[in-house]
Amino acid sequence: MLRSPTGEATLTDAIQVEDLEKTYPPAVRAVQGVSFAVHPGEIFGFLGPNGAGKTTTVSMLTTLLRPTKGRAAVAGLDVAEQPAEVRREIGLVFQDSTADGELTGRENMILAGGLFGMRPSECRGRIDELLGRMDLTEAADRRVKGYSGGMKRRLELAVAMVHTPKILFLDEPTIGLDPQGRAGFWRYIKELRQEQQVTIFMTTHYLDEVENLCDRIAIIDHGRIIASGTNDSLKERVGGDLVELRVPADGADLTETLGSVPGVREVSREANIYRVKCPRAEGLVSALVKACDLAGVTVEGVTVQRPSIDRVFLELTGKAYREEGYDDGRAAQASVFHTRGRGGR
Ligand SMILES: Nc1ncnc2c1ncn2[C@@H]1O[C@H](COP(=O)(O)OP(=O)(O)O)[C@@H](O)[C@H]1O
Ligand SMILES: [Mg+2]
Repeated sequence: MLRSPTGEATLTDAIQVEDLEKTYPPAVRAVQGVSFAVHPGEIFGFLGPNGAGKTTTVSMLTTLLRPTKGRAAVAGLDVAEQPAEVRREIGLVFQDSTADGELTGRENMILAGGLFGMRPSECRGRIDELLGRMDLTEAADRRVKGYSGGMKRRLELAVAMVHTPKILFLDEPTIGLDPQGRAGFWRYIKELRQEQQVTIFMTTHYLDEVENLCDRIAIIDHGRIIASGTNDSLKERVGGDLVELRVPADGADLTETLGSVPGVREVSREANIYRVKCPRAEGLVSALVKACDLAGVTVEGVTVQRPSIDRVFLELTGKAYREEGYDDGRAAQASVFHTRGRGGR
């Protein structure tokens, strides 16, 4: 993986992971043969319930933990063989706050620059720029202990970016933030990616986070990757969108008519409701309504249900995705209703 067929290192992917494993003594198999690649410039979401192996994976990729088996390359550098070089190319924001509350935001940044051998005079411009980008210019010379949770997270992002890393690792960066704080954080992440061309690897156990933010995701469960791809490709695995058409009870049967509309995958009927599965409902709804019209039946109501990532998780594991951890059996049943209730998202 790390070498082309002719033996040169390849730099096509920002992160390449092959068969990575971590067993904590004596026998906790936290990560069990994980493989994936992150492309340059993308926001890659590593999604999984608590205890799935997210932090263990991030720790190996950021050289804090040595893999038991397998290989990983970050910015083309082997994490086990070239840890110091890897560290220069990456920025890291961990779940727990690392900023010093007694220092100001700016002092924290100068300190971080120093760790990478940058003198204060050398990094002043960079620090001003990052503080501005994170909307912390006004707060820059105040002590961090007076910052709000959202401001602290933004400062940590700025600190992680001070040495201009190519790749940013964020381990559950929005945990503990309120919905508004989380939405704000996403905006900063998107801007960072756009303006600094940084690749972002983030772990989360929030489903909405990967849906709104990530270009591609991998879902990890019990130390194994159970699915990966774009949001849309994962959702297509559970049958894509579902269009429900309500028609008058006395009309002719439309199953064949609807089935012949291009783009339709499957049609089922329950009394006067037709359920049409298709990869994407956009552009198809009007064609379906028109087909009914041509068959002499007027559609009375239409709803579109988007498959969600929790539906993907449920279908792959047989368990409901619980943001606070695991659940089984009865909870899986409940999640089906929960998912339907959120249809149209
Ligand atoms: N230092 C450790 N020693 C032993 N077991 C650990 C250690 N750290 C994590 N684990 C276990 O490894 C598994 C994965 O943990 P972790 O990577 O922290 O998951 P996540 O970040 O997805 O919540 C869990 O079962 C956890 O209890
Ligand atoms: Mg964790």
